Amino acid sequence: MPLLPGVLEVRALRQTAKMAVIGARHRKNDTRRQALGYRNDTLPAALWNTSVNDAGHLEIGGCDSVHLARDFGTPLHVVNKDRLVADFERFHGAFARCWPEVILGTSYKTNPLPGVIRQLHQLGSWAEVISHFELWLAIQLGMPGARIIYNGPGKTRESIRLAVGHDLALINLDNASEVDQVAAEAQALGRIQKVGIRVVTSVGWSGQFGNSIASGEALAMARRIVASDGLSLAGLHIHLGTGLKHLPTYLQAIREVCVFAQTLQSELGVTLSYLDFGGGFGVPTVRPMDEWDQRLQANGYPPGPIDPSANPTPETFAQAVTGLLREFYDPGHPGNCPTLIFEPGRAITSSAQTLLLSVIAIKPGPNGSRKVILDGGKNITIPLGYELHEVLPASKMNSPYGGQHQLYGPLCHPGDILVLWKRLPDLEPGDVVAIMDAGAYFIPNQMNFSNPRPAVVMAHDGTAELIRAREQFDDIVRLDQLVD
Ligand SMILES: Cc1ncc(COP(=O)(O)O)c(C=O)c1O
Repeated sequence: MPLLPGVLEVRALRQTAKMAVIGARHRKNDTRRQALGYRNDTLPAALWNTSVNDAGHLEIGGCDSVHLARDFGTPLHVVNKDRLVADFERFHGAFARCWPEVILGTSYKTNPLPGVIRQLHQLGSWAEVISHFELWLAIQLGMPGARIIYNGPGKTRESIRLAVGHDLALINLDNASEVDQVAAEAQALGRIQKVGIRVVTSVGWSGQFGNSIASGEALAMARRIVASDGLSLAGLHIHLGTGLKHLPTYLQAIREVCVFAQTLQSELGVTLSYLDFGGGFGVPTVRPMDEWDQRLQANGYPPGPIDPSANPTPETFAQAVTGLLREFYDPGHPGNCPTLIFEPGRAITSSAQTLLLSVIAIKPGPNGSRKVILDGGKNITIPLGYELHEVLPASKMNSPYGGQHQLYGPLCHPGDILVLWKRLPDLEPGDVVAIMDAGAYFIPNQMNFSNPRPAVVMAHDGTAELIRAREQFDDIVRLDQLVD
């Protein structure tokens, strides 16, 4: 009998210890799920302003989701108009109650559906665009230049010409060559173009974006702008990231921006009209996946819960942000107060949109689980690779829940995994499932991968209107040419 355990025994001990830690984590998560109001490992449908009708089907905007799937086919995006409007008004209202002038710019890239964007413009939003195409789209949608903000690290010369030609409200400049190009276009038209500087603070995204305040880069940009004919330095812009739920990070960045605004005043005599704090606000029902979620799922457990209360409400955000701004500005004197711009993308559109998918086939999975093959894959659900989203059994909302399901797409690709672990009722071919919070970064990230892209309907008061037709096979190859 050896005194020391052999390699195999050490491995087995390690594995047992690892499984004990993972099991303990799972039990802790389960207790948290109960406390958070989860039923059957699932958040309540009411969190998305959806409901369950007498047929036991998920209802969105008063429309039976199973009827929508039947009438329009799947995969199908359903925009809940009332929820979209409510999320916009809540966010805007929260800030507008605390500050004299507040503008929300609709982030085109978050959800570039013209039907959704137009709805938000009708509520008073400006357009926040980051490419020539988006600028073109804003103009097509009837937005005057005075309600368009142009951001992004790679503005082409043609797009700058178009932007200056339309006398945009604000072009947030990212680099020195943009300063010179915008100035040249403005001079050619004999016009003064209002510009901002995208700055980088000690927190949030930096990478290829913006100009560091700490290194002096931002001040050098400001000097260059002030010295250029045709430009007026009107604002500062930040965008810290996406899906952020940590208020102190925001406040830290905003403080640094305000201090920098004071430097601009004292060094260059510049008074800013706009402070643009970008987007990035998280939503209650989505959580970025972490290492624990991956580990739990790989070992046959559900990922950790989504805690909706972990996301600061718009009111909490607004009070904290404007409270901080009052240290620098007096909103009692609106003339001396900058207009605040926010560019919330996902906070407005995420929870208002659901992706309906149909079950094509069911197969037995490991340890009694079931593999579900759906008619939409990773090509149209990219965010499921890095975020946790709720999945509801749209056609079986009142059925008893069974065991673990793994959800796959139809792509004939080993990476076509939508959700690795989900308890659901025992689904059959033809059943419909709903991927919740499909309104941010699903549409802009979608690709064909051998399939047409989905149709989109807007549901309101029991009626659904098509706002984007399903792509046809012809559409996919329309720009191709056969050459001999
Ligand atoms: C400049 C800018 N503004 C706004 C947004 C919208 O961000 P979110 O959807 O996280 O609010 C983005 C997204 O990356 C962005 O880059």
